Amino acid sequence: MSKIVRLISKNCNNITPESVEEYVHAGGFEGLKKAFTQDPTEIIAEIKTAKLLGRGGAAYPAGAKWEHLLHIPEFPKYIVCNADEGEPGTFKDKLLLSQDPLGVIEGMIIAGYVFNSNDGYIYIRGEYAAIQRSFQKAIDHAIESGYLGNNILGTKFDFHIHIVTGAGAYVCGENSALLNSIEGKAGRPRIKPPHLAEVGLFSMPTLVNNVESFANIPLIVQMGGEKYLSYGTKDSGGTKLVCLSGHVAKRGVYEIPFGVTLRDIIYDPQIGGGIANNKKLKFFHLGGQSGPCGIPEQLDTPYCYKALRSVGLSVGSGAVVVVDESVCIIDYLKGVTEFFIHESCGKCTPCREGNWQMYKILRKFQEGVAVQEDFHVMKRLTDTMTNASFCGLGQSAAVALTSCLKYFRDEFEAHIQKQCPADHCFIGRERGE
Ligand SMILES: Cc1cc2nc3c(=O)[nH]c(=O)nc-3n(C[C@H](O)[C@H](O)[C@H](O)COP(=O)(O)O)c2cc1C
Ligand code: SF4
Repeated sequence: MSKIVRLISKNCNNITPESVEEYVHAGGFEGLKKAFTQDPTEIIAEIKTAKLLGRGGAAYPAGAKWEHLLHIPEFPKYIVCNADEGEPGTFKDKLLLSQDPLGVIEGMIIAGYVFNSNDGYIYIRGEYAAIQRSFQKAIDHAIESGYLGNNILGTKFDFHIHIVTGAGAYVCGENSALLNSIEGKAGRPRIKPPHLAEVGLFSMPTLVNNVESFANIPLIVQMGGEKYLSYGTKDSGGTKLVCLSGHVAKRGVYEIPFGVTLRDIIYDPQIGGGIANNKKLKFFHLGGQSGPCGIPEQLDTPYCYKALRSVGLSVGSGAVVVVDESVCIIDYLKGVTEFFIHESCGKCTPCREGNWQMYKILRKFQEGVAVQEDFHVMKRLTDTMTNASFCGLGQSAAVALTSCLKYFRDEFEAHIQKQCPADHCFIGRERGE
């Protein structure tokens, strides 16, 4: 099995991104043409066969989500592409949006056709200002060439894509907060149910999928679900864009078939190329700040949803942050918690207060003044945040800490004794080392 494949990334750095001519020459819009010959139920059946799981982080089965929306009788329906990409360590949607925007557009048009929807919205994070401009160009070119707008490819089907941008809040990536933000309201999560398939954008039935999820749709339609599935494992169809960052030799976005190991991703010369500066791997952080950390003993785990879950890890957004032995675990987790304090929208107490309390305890460990009782307080805090927070942000804010407590308890204990094995530690700095 090749450890690198180029399915959704095949056009990246190979064609002029906004050129419809070059996109078509590279096989673009073949999925759309085929979709127009199929019944919406056939298309959804292929997506189910493909076992495409949402690439935005929650891994919800795309086929089931599409099927649910198909059966909702109300119209109009809206198609929304989540291009908020706020998860730290995640930059794979950026690659697709900037290098193959027409692939994302094609996926959204197919969704529009399936649900007889005439309007799609793409919510691009504010920090991607240049991408918003180039994406608009791609939309304009698609309209000029008859692939988007009114009477697409001479049919009676009309579909328009509108770009919306946020002001850079992480929580706006949560699908209901994102819809509120598009509507001009404060970007705070909605209570669910009702599900967005029933009461979504402008209170109408809505499909929300991630950029990478949409980019996979034309491929699945074109090659069929069975073939797509065969690129990955039995349960995780196809490929995944992984974002390698941190202390790894070759940082970047790589498209890998599900099933290669974490060791392959970090150490294979074609992919990560090992740890930079001949240091030793301490841990890796998967799926962004909201995901769990793993240790070198887990490196032979296949990178796929099921295998990772079985060892307490997860794919999440596809982020793989590699951390070497020089880093203090308390310092690292303090950074994670600072992120959640900054990004908490403040709507609910477990998240708003919980993250802040967590930070205070980590600071005690960092300053060498923590006591044994702090482990119990942390456990109660993480349980409350996980079980009682209103949305996924607060529910997952303590995931990294919980996994690190499992693997690095000794290092926490050492801090109580004002010791730390890492080169860069606040305690070391206090000692003037
Ligand atoms: C706090 C928070 C932030 C999120 N940020 C993003 C994001 O930036 N991009 C994204 O696609 N999904 C994000 N999600 C997940 C979305 O709520 C949703 O599951 C996703 O857009 C659905 O698309 P998918 O099924 O194709 O993955 C976030 C969820 C939470 C709780
Ligand atoms: S968990 Fe609560 S405070 Fe945190 S972002 Fe979600 S709604 Fe806001």
